[in-house]
Amino acid sequence: MTNQTSGQTSQPSDSILIVDFGSQVTQLIARRVREAGVYSEIAPFNAAKEAFARMKPAGVILSGSPASVLDDNGPRIPDEILESGLPMLGICYGQQSLMHQLGGEVLSGDSGEFGRAFIEIGDDCALFDGLWSKGEKHQVWMSHGDKVTSLAPGFRPVASSEGAPFAVIANDEKRIYAMQFHPEVVHTPDGGKLLKNFVRHVCGLAGDWTMAEFRKTKIDEIRAQVGDKRVICGLSGGVDSAVAALLIHEAIGDQLTCVFVDGGILRMGEAEQVVSLFRGHYNIPLVHVDASTLFLNGLAGVTDPEAKRKFIGKTFIDVFEDEAKKIGGAEFLAQGTLYPDVIESVSFTGGPSVTIKSHHNVGGLPERMNMKLVEPLRELFKDEVRVLGRELGLPDIFVGRHPFPGPGLAIRIPGEVTRERCDILRKADAIYLEEIRNAGLYDAIWQAFAVLLPVKTVGVMGDGRTYDNVCALRAVTSTDGMTADIYPFDSAFLSRVATRIINEVKGINRVVYDYTSKPPGTIEWE
Ligand code: XMP
Repeated sequence: MTNQTSGQTSQPSDSILIVDFGSQVTQLIARRVREAGVYSEIAPFNAAKEAFARMKPAGVILSGSPASVLDDNGPRIPDEILESGLPMLGICYGQQSLMHQLGGEVLSGDSGEFGRAFIEIGDDCALFDGLWSKGEKHQVWMSHGDKVTSLAPGFRPVASSEGAPFAVIANDEKRIYAMQFHPEVVHTPDGGKLLKNFVRHVCGLAGDWTMAEFRKTKIDEIRAQVGDKRVICGLSGGVDSAVAALLIHEAIGDQLTCVFVDGGILRMGEAEQVVSLFRGHYNIPLVHVDASTLFLNGLAGVTDPEAKRKFIGKTFIDVFEDEAKKIGGAEFLAQGTLYPDVIESVSFTGGPSVTIKSHHNVGGLPERMNMKLVEPLRELFKDEVRVLGRELGLPDIFVGRHPFPGPGLAIRIPGEVTRERCDILRKADAIYLEEIRNAGLYDAIWQAFAVLLPVKTVGVMGDGRTYDNVCALRAVTSTDGMTADIYPFDSAFLSRVATRIINEVKGINRVVYDYTSKPPGTIEWE
């Protein structure tokens, strides 16, 4: 388990400190360390010295960053850590900062390396034990502009790529290793094993920490936080809020009431499914609020994606607060907020990452909110939540659902959101998902959905001219939502879906397929 550096329980023994320089994927490093069975904590670089002194970790990992070590005020590794003699692993900016501070050289490249790259293994090192051998080539994921051009004393190169002569470097005596690429993302297929080699072989940790402990620790934390007060939990229909609800119910039983807000921006049949699952399967009290008029009236004329997200976030909270009052004074609001929702809104620890979008349940919270938050899944990724959901007994059909964002269809309708446009999109989306299920592809896809574009094009149907909306189809594979690849449907499948949508959905006369990976795109369109 990872914790923020302030407040929560700390487990100093056998841990790894991850110094966050503001990378969008720092939590993925923590997650890989969890997968290797090792406890870790993340600290922003400007609080790392204190975290280091408190934790007394067995090793330190230095994250990537949007900054440049060549900037005078670029973040630096605290001297206490640099001079500690502990094993260290530098990733991307982490590598550059090690070289910059230990006497090597970093230069800003004319062009960077972004995306898939191949490295050639030039020599053995502890990170490669049982994994990579001299002369082999392996796929990695690069994302850098600056690069190391000369090594600090004591370091040797052990792998290189076309754009990075020092793709992996090692100082065996000091147990310091560093790489230009990102081992934490899934597009570096062996990256998890490299990190495991670091925490197990180099740092000598046993790897006996498990996910079951997360459940126990969280239940204790929820009880301590909530006491004998009442909690309401917003159910969105997705797996995250359902798992959060089950975990909280296990912790505090009937002190929990679930509230399901239908803002008119849900998918076809979704409200009915959620209500029947929670009322039919569980003994958890569920309030179903139809707030579609409130939401859709408020969204009228709003076209800016951030304004939509903020309005939806605020309105959700308003409705929750009203319901809390009706229930008779709930003090806490529980949400299924996941780590990716957090990192793309603000850095996990209040550190320095760039805002990409305000996820509705984090950046959209109104400042004047009158309830305290309970967010037990805040450190987890989607697939980890699924593991937890299965442990808690959530039915497979629910655990396996594609993610659906809190702002719902509103962020799949670029431009103005109206009831009519929601209806059009709902129909197209239902056809698309039905075809995906019929083709047996649902579980192979991380997320699939239709988008209704704010553009009309000319078509011809039954010898007549049409002038109607364009629908875009999106389907991606991913393991955590942080990076994603498009799903490569065959063209017969796409033609079948396009034909059905155009024939069956009044208001759409053209269908296109979105071919953008993440990065550079995001999964949702807004
Ligand atoms: P993006 O669009 O950021 O999406 O690449 C990554 C994953 O997060 C989901 N998503 C959200 N989930 N509230 C949520 O609960 C939000 O505001 C939100 N925005 C995006 C998205 O569907 C994908 O699975």
